Amino acid sequence: MLLKMIMMVNLLSMFILAAGFPYGVVDGLRMDYYLMSCPFAEQIVKNTVNGALDNDPALAAALVRMHFHDCFIEGCDASILIDSTKDNTAEKDSPGNLSLRGYEVIDDAKDQLEEQCPGIVSCADIVAMAARDAIFWAGGPVYDIPKGRKDGRRSKIEDTINLPFPTFNTSELITAFGKRGFTAQEMVALSGAHTLGVARCASFKGRLSSADPTLDSDFAKTLSKKCGGGDNAEQPFDATPRIFDNFYFNALMRKSGLLFSDQTLYTTPRTRGVVNGYAMNQAMFFFDFRKAMIKMGTVDVKEGSKGEVRQDCRKIN
Ligand code: HEM
Ligand SMILES: *[C@@H]1O[C@H](CO)[C@@H](O)[C@H](O)[C@H]1NC(C)=O
Ligand SMILES: *[C@@H]1O[C@H](CO)[C@@H](O)[C@H](O)[C@H]1NC(C)=O
Repeated sequence: MLLKMIMMVNLLSMFILAAGFPYGVVDGLRMDYYLMSCPFAEQIVKNTVNGALDNDPALAAALVRMHFHDCFIEGCDASILIDSTKDNTAEKDSPGNLSLRGYEVIDDAKDQLEEQCPGIVSCADIVAMAARDAIFWAGGPVYDIPKGRKDGRRSKIEDTINLPFPTFNTSELITAFGKRGFTAQEMVALSGAHTLGVARCASFKGRLSSADPTLDSDFAKTLSKKCGGGDNAEQPFDATPRIFDNFYFNALMRKSGLLFSDQTLYTTPRTRGVVNGYAMNQAMFFFDFRKAMIKMGTVDVKEGSKGEVRQDCRKIN
């Protein structure tokens, strides 16, 4: 019996390594975390996400971005989902929330999970699974993630200062991601999430006020015209904003990156080679992106009594 268990654990860790999970097991996180306690957790989240995206494909981008914002502030602990109260202004209400959407998809999955296995599946795990399922739905790589994240009890507007700004240059991006343990190459791979979705004019109009040699002049005209529609006018990051592909990197090579923080990855010699590589080889981008996303999902994860499983993803218990 014991031997069998040891063999199982061995097999499991081999599987985890094969899946590219970098640290073996981050203490409490495990691939099969809900195997006994809520065996259909993955399926419930996937069905919910697929249903929501079939209705509104643009939500794929929103769910991926939600996971990023969650992990970069206070770790992957669903702090992004907390609603403000009269005593506390939450992350979500920062100007840096920049049009985050898709909260109702997480609520929907959570409601079903609470019905099946009350108090078991954390909101942080739901966010991580939803992002993963959205990437696959949009044509991106498929991967397994370890689960067992606990939900945090802090969500403060002032913490959002720790998100990278769209005005960052490559060295600022490398520093910001380096603080969370990412290499420059992983930062470039993760930026490839901008193959999905849009940015609003407010996020890129600063680039249009003076001549910019790193910005294609026709593309600059397109953007100026778009901004004629106001700060909330939306421009896709690449030609296929609903498909997870490597067109984003090809756009950078044509000086048609949308944000300054996108184009700078190609402008800077240090990261240009990585951009070229991903633009030419989608399989390589998918491989690196998958690994980097699994890693992102383990940033400052809360375990045990450091967190809780929220009953309502918008409220601390
Ligand atoms: C490298 C530093 C990054 C910066 C400076 C940045 C900044 C931004 C900005 C300003 C927007 C547009 C928001 C708006 O105007 O409404 C955006 C959108 C987006 N970001 Fe990032 N981001 C970064 C990295 C990431 C990462 C690592 C991911 C995910 C792994 C990600 C996923 C997304 C997605 C999917 C969208 C589109 C959202 C939608 O269409 O609803 N970003 N990002
Ligand atoms: C984002 O923050 C603004 C306040 O800055 C708030 O009015 C808006 O409701 C927030 N958006 C979301 C989706 O929470
Ligand atoms: C990047 O931005 C920082 C802060 O504004 C600045 O000090 C640095 O010189 C910039 N680096 C490059 C290579 O432009």
